[in-house]
Amino acid sequence: MARGRFISLEGGEGVGKSTQLAALEEALRRRGFDVLVTREPGGSEGAEAIRRLLLEGEEGRWNARAEALLFAAARSDHVAKTIKPALAAGRWVLSDRFLDSSLAYQGEAGGLGIEAVRDLHRFGSEDFLPDRTLVLSLDAGEGRARARHRDGDEGDRIGGRPPSYHAAVERGFRLMADAEPERVKLVDASGNAETVTARLIAALGDLLQ
Ligand SMILES: Nc1ncnc2c1ncn2[C@@H]1O[C@H](COP(=O)(O)OP(=O)(O)OP(=O)(O)O)[C@@H](O)[C@H]1O
Ligand SMILES: [Mg+2]
Repeated sequence: MARGRFISLEGGEGVGKSTQLAALEEALRRRGFDVLVTREPGGSEGAEAIRRLLLEGEEGRWNARAEALLFAAARSDHVAKTIKPALAAGRWVLSDRFLDSSLAYQGEAGGLGIEAVRDLHRFGSEDFLPDRTLVLSLDAGEGRARARHRDGDEGDRIGGRPPSYHAAVERGFRLMADAEPERVKLVDASGNAETVTARLIAALGDLLQ
């Protein structure tokens, strides 16, 4: 059986990842693919337990290195228990966030460095990578305004960090797109949801042949 494809959807808070994941799932199903939707941190039983450790509690609950290790540990379990078995069964896997969020948030914005965080992925998940990473990009603040409109003022431990942190996250995603242009595509997330979905499908074009 042909191996399925692994697609990750990335971007800052509130840019429309979850909205677009549902739209992409639908579009791929219509094309006859068997699709598994998953998310990070989480996506397997062990990784969902780690998700609660990461997103709940005080801002100072973890130091930056411990936080990066927890993300890498969660991802290792997610890859081994959920993603690889689904791909081997010929399914397409769509993940709401994956490695590039760790590279942008913990590596670039958190100051650990992109290479240090990539090293954790080399160890934890043997550098297993998506076939395509779609990064939704919006003008600074616009995504957070969408998220605030959705949630009111509440953010989680990481979403609640200051604007300078989130600007560095955006820079991190752009660095990844520059470094790995075949895998990582920046997609304009402005405009209505249907327009954004069409851009995402176009950015998957070669994989859909
Ligand atoms: N193209 C769009 N135009 C306007 N609003 C949108 C668009 N796409 C999504 N939204 C709305 O913006 C809010 C954030 O979208 P969504 O939850 O999909 O973002 P997200 O990237 O998954 O956020 P988070 O980082 O918090 O998980 C939601 O209320 C959603 O309905
Ligand atoms: Mg979401």
